[in-house]
Amino acid sequence: MAKPIYVLNGPNLNLLGSREPEVYGKGTLDDLRQRCERKAKALGLKVDFRQSNHEGELVAWIQEARTDAAGLIVNAGAFTHTSIAMLDALLACPVPAVEVHLSNIFTREPFRHRSYISKAAEGVICGFGALGYELAIEALAATISPGKAG
Ligand code: DQA
Repeated sequence: MAKPIYVLNGPNLNLLGSREPEVYGKGTLDDLRQRCERKAKALGLKVDFRQSNHEGELVAWIQEARTDAAGLIVNAGAFTHTSIAMLDALLACPVPAVEVHLSNIFTREPFRHRSYISKAAEGVICGFGALGYELAIEALAATISPGKAG
């Protein structure tokens, strides 16, 4: 059985739909999961979609991805701007990772301009809402199995 792409969502992303909809949109986390699953299926891939408010749990999932995932999509939420632990876990993880943000972090408060985890990412997609996750799946598909995506 082919390994899935882990889609890891950090703190407060469970509140999507009701949390600052003018910034993050009206779609829920479950809408986002369904969208990712559809996109992955169209590319012959599988996603394992998860969310946690706990840094340690996210670190454990990244460690698990070392052996169990084909790729990683990470929206670390606010941990993006604080977590050396997530960076270290990603640096120790040999599978390709794409960093995603729903909002354009560079047009927001200065403290959001710095990402600790970008150093470990193949690429970063931000500002395109839920579409960014689909773009990340396409990017990973092209990385994992060239020829499957454009
Ligand atoms: C976010 C941006 C972060 O700055 C913020 O803390 C989030 C969500 C995004 O998806 O735009 O929780 O990662």
